[in-house]
Amino acid sequence: MDMSSTHNVLVFDSGVGGLSVFKEMQALLPNLNYCYVFDNEAYPYGELSPETLLSRVSSIVVRHVESQNIDLVVIACNTASTIVLPALREMLNIPVVGVVPAIKPASLLANESVALIATPATITRQYTQDLIRNFATGKKVEMIGSTRLVDMAEAKLRGEVVDIEELRQILKPIKGADVAVLGCTHFPLIKEEIQLALGNEVTLIDSGEAIARRVNVLIQQLETTKHSSIRPHRIFSTAPAQQEGALNDSLRTLGFSPVAPFPIQDV
Ligand code: DGL
Repeated sequence: MDMSSTHNVLVFDSGVGGLSVFKEMQALLPNLNYCYVFDNEAYPYGELSPETLLSRVSSIVVRHVESQNIDLVVIACNTASTIVLPALREMLNIPVVGVVPAIKPASLLANESVALIATPATITRQYTQDLIRNFATGKKVEMIGSTRLVDMAEAKLRGEVVDIEELRQILKPIKGADVAVLGCTHFPLIKEEIQLALGNEVTLIDSGEAIARRVNVLIQQLETTKHSSIRPHRIFSTAPAQQEGALNDSLRTLGFSPVAPFPIQDV
């Protein structure tokens, strides 16, 4: 691929969580045009019904793909991915990559049992139950669904300090697990704090790197004639961002322009 042009990748989440996936993609594929869209109007996704999720995510993503000449979509949200992937793949004729909890690698690594830390919605999904049935390799899986953890990750990106004692209380129900799956893309953003709260005996696993590798494979397969020129990474929100100044400071360090309103109205 020539260096003055590249492919356009859309990264989507309810909030800033997908930035943990973006960071892994950016490390492996620094020369792509990244466009990040977050649906903060409907945040937190972990408390939405499957029907609402399906209609919001498909409408936002499809319209963005059409208007912004997107070549590949990453649904950087476990909660949405467990519901919307089949429908989105039907609607779009470009690759759609999703993120689901890393139950398989975690179970292979665990001696005793695995903890799945995710949103309240993700732990109840049939998709998650199927992952556990097919890949937990006989290991017990303990589950915690927490929106407060998602809020803590959002706050950290806006410069706030994470309260480790509060984190410890939330994660207390995890008993015998020696491996914990960060089954929400927000959680790698507070990985160090989660590690402090759980202690070093617990290994933390997330899906970010695997997603970046998958995107790499798919990008190589895209036709090389359809190129866009390289530009700064752009980020759009469906509602005005909270503490926008502090958020933009963090985003700047990741190479993004300031948050702009989602360019398509009537979501
Ligand atoms: N980042 C999301 C996930 O991976 C969802 C967080 C939320 O909006 O509840 O599940």
